[in-house]
Parts: sequence; structure tokens; C-alpha cells
Amino acid sequence: METQIFDLAEEYDQSIKKAASLVKQGGIVVFPTETVYGLGANAYDKDSVAKIFEAKGRPSDNPLIVHIADLEDIFLAAREVSESAKLLIKAFMPGPISIILKKNYRLADNVTAGLDTVAVRCPSSAQARDFIKECACPIAAPSANISGKPSPTRGEHVVFDMNGRADAILIGDDCLVGLESTVVDMSGEAPAILRPGAVTKEMIEDVLGMKVTSAYKEELKDAPKAPGMKYTHYKPKASVVCVYGELDKVCEYITKRIDASDTDKDKIACIAFDEAEIPNAEHIFSLGSISTPECAAANLFASLRSCDTYGIELAFAMGLEYGGIADAYNNRLNKASDEVIYI
Ligand code: TXA
Ligand code: MG
Repeated sequence: METQIFDLAEEYDQSIKKAASLVKQGGIVVFPTETVYGLGANAYDKDSVAKIFEAKGRPSDNPLIVHIADLEDIFLAAREVSESAKLLIKAFMPGPISIILKKNYRLADNVTAGLDTVAVRCPSSAQARDFIKECACPIAAPSANISGKPSPTRGEHVVFDMNGRADAILIGDDCLVGLESTVVDMSGEAPAILRPGAVTKEMIEDVLGMKVTSAYKEELKDAPKAPGMKYTHYKPKASVVCVYGELDKVCEYITKRIDASDTDKDKIACIAFDEAEIPNAEHIFSLGSISTPECAAANLFASLRSCDTYGIELAFAMGLEYGGIADAYNNRLNKASDEVIYI
């Protein structure tokens, strides 16, 4: 398949128009959002949606998030919005959150993998919203990576993964948040966070005035709630060792492991905070300062992808102290890791 590539920095209005016209013709288009790039199709059209699953190599029992351009479009995707869901919508939408609601039956069945619910998201990225608005329909979109790979947060990532697989790619801003949206289930009796993100558990509990379950903490057991949780995620080719603890102890541990390793030094990398000192590391991929966890979040997927670019076989990555956005960062890092060490 030939993929048309449009750069929003060069030609904005025309690029959005052309990309949206491909969606209207039943095509699939990659577009930027504030979280990660998405691979979008008309959520009302079964055949278009089927192309997304094929392009990503995504199992068909894993439902897609439906994106809308404006809050008033919520009923294009949902049929019912509870009072507590309205509180979250008011507080966090548009923004990096997906809210699970009872679905509108106009949605193609394969969007929701046959479930009676739908995850709805209104991105805060103006580039995303302009594109969705021009499509004039709700847009079903998973992250635009090949299934199992780190989600794409930069234009070059989507060109690498989706050139030849999508009808078009809209290259836009680097993704500010860098981790996928918080997924919160508001379709049942009790609210539950199914995937942590930049809208944190603390923020959600504050708005709802009640404790909220973190269903994703149970993902290590064998009954995942969000269907996507049971699949391997975010894996570079390298073995990833994730290390938690005080920074100097973490550095000491990694330095010793590098010294003791049989792997060539130029095939070992550290995904590290700027304050870290690891004298024997030949490749360091920066997470920014340890005092800015949002920066680590924005850099994580790009760093995991850099491992493949540099032919890395063994990578050591630093975890954050839990709480706030660190919960989302650690969640993705743990999923990418072959070994998790607590010092
Ligand atoms: O930030 C994001 O959410 C990005 C951008 C493109 O918007 N999208 C994204 O989509 O991360 P995806 O498909 O990679 O992840 C969607 C997650 C999956 O874990 C899926 O199982 C879960 O949301 N999900 C979607 N609909 C659901 C539903 N009705 N019930 C439970 N989980 C659902
Ligand atoms: Mg994904």
C-alpha cells in the first residue's frame, strides 16, 4: 500500500483535508494526539475499522478507543452518561483520559470487540481535534504502533511503523504527554481505573470525592479487566532490566551489572535520569531530570525505541517512586521489562 505522508508543520489545512477525505473514503490515517499517535478510521464503518486491526496485527478481542472532536459529540459514541461520568468529563476532557460508557449502537461492532461499552476520548491536541472534526464522524483509534512495540510519540516512529500499512500519516507535534490516556471505567456501579495515565488516580478521586479501584494493579494476576492488558507491550528487541530504588544505589547496581555482563559494552544502554552517574555505560538515553517525572513519561517510549535503533541487546531502565504520573510511567516500564529489580 502506498502511504501519503503529510507534514502539519509545512501545510496544515490542506493536510488535514486530504487526510480526512481518505477517512471518508474508508481509509486508515495516522494522526498526532497529546498522548501518543493514533491510527484512525470511521468508527461507524466496520470495514474501515477492520483495516486497523490488520495494519497493527492487533487481536480482534481488544477494543478500540473512540475519539471525538468536541464534548458535545459524546452521544455519537455513548448512549448513556452517568452523573459521576459527567464530573470527570467536566474536569478532564478534552485531555489525556478515556472514559468507558455504555455504547451507542451505531458504532461498528468490531470497534468494541462486541462489548456493550465504549471507551470515549476527546484529545486536547488541536491537531487531533481539527483532524477528527474534518472527518465528520467519531474516530476509532488505537496507538499507531505495530502491536507489542512501544507506542509512537514522534513523527519518525509512525513513519517507521506505519509507512506502507496506513493510507496516510499526518506528522505533527511530538506527543507532549508521551504515555497513552488514563482509561477509567464509568459504565458500572463502581468507577475503576483500567490503565493509569497523566490524569492520575489522585486527580480522579479528588473530583469524584471517593476512592477508586486500580484494576490494572491486578493485571499481574490472571484476570485482566481491560482486554488490552493481557498482551505483551512496549518491547524493544533488547532485554530490559528495570531498577527501582535510591538513585545512587541504582547507579551502583547498574554499574556492577554492566561490568559483570557478557554482552558487548556497545550493545548495552541505560535509560537514565540526567543526575545518574554510570561511568561504564556507552549508551545513555535520557529521561530528563529525576525531579520531572512528566519528562520521564514523555521520553520513555522514545528511549525504548532508541534501543532498537542502536542495536542494543541489554538495557537498564530506571523506575520512579510511585504516585501521580509515576504510576503510569512505572506501569509501562514494567510491561516492557524482562526483569524488575527493587533495591
Ligand atoms: O492515549 C490513548 O488512549 C491512545 C491515543 C491514540 O488516543 N490510544 C490508545 O489506544 O492507547 P489503545 O488501543 O492502544 O489502547 C486502548 C486500551 C486497551 O487496553 C483496550 O483494551 C482498552 O483501552 N479498552 C478500550 N475499550 C474498552 C472497553 N470498552 N472496555 C475496557 N477496556 C477498553
Ligand atoms: Mg496501544
